[in-house]
Amino acid sequence: MAREKTWHNIIAVDLLEAGWVTRVDLGGRKLAVYDTPSGVYTSSALCNHGGADMCDGYFDGHVIECPLHQGAFDVRDGKPVSPPATRPMMTFETRIKEGMVQIKT
Ligand code: FES
Repeated sequence: MAREKTWHNIIAVDLLEAGWVTRVDLGGRKLAVYDTPSGVYTSSALCNHGGADMCDGYFDGHVIECPLHQGAFDVRDGKPVSPPATRPMMTFETRIKEGMVQIKT
């Protein structure tokens, strides 16, 4: 039977870089947490094109640009918005609760 997803604290909201991307390690999983004008979003930190660390990329509004080949993704839903990125990146349901960023996994 599949394990039911639950919420996990990943970082205090106060520790997020305002308007930017923050790297978080969660049990060996590398995550990128984005502070955006419409809220906080989370994705895998590893680009699905060539494995680069998205936390070293350029972030603007809702779009993260990969530092290696400049593929870009909308962090709200993971959709690729600029080549060579063609597949959606892995995103996680994210919420703020009691001062903590939480993801469901
Ligand atoms: Fe990210 Fe190629 S590794 S676009």
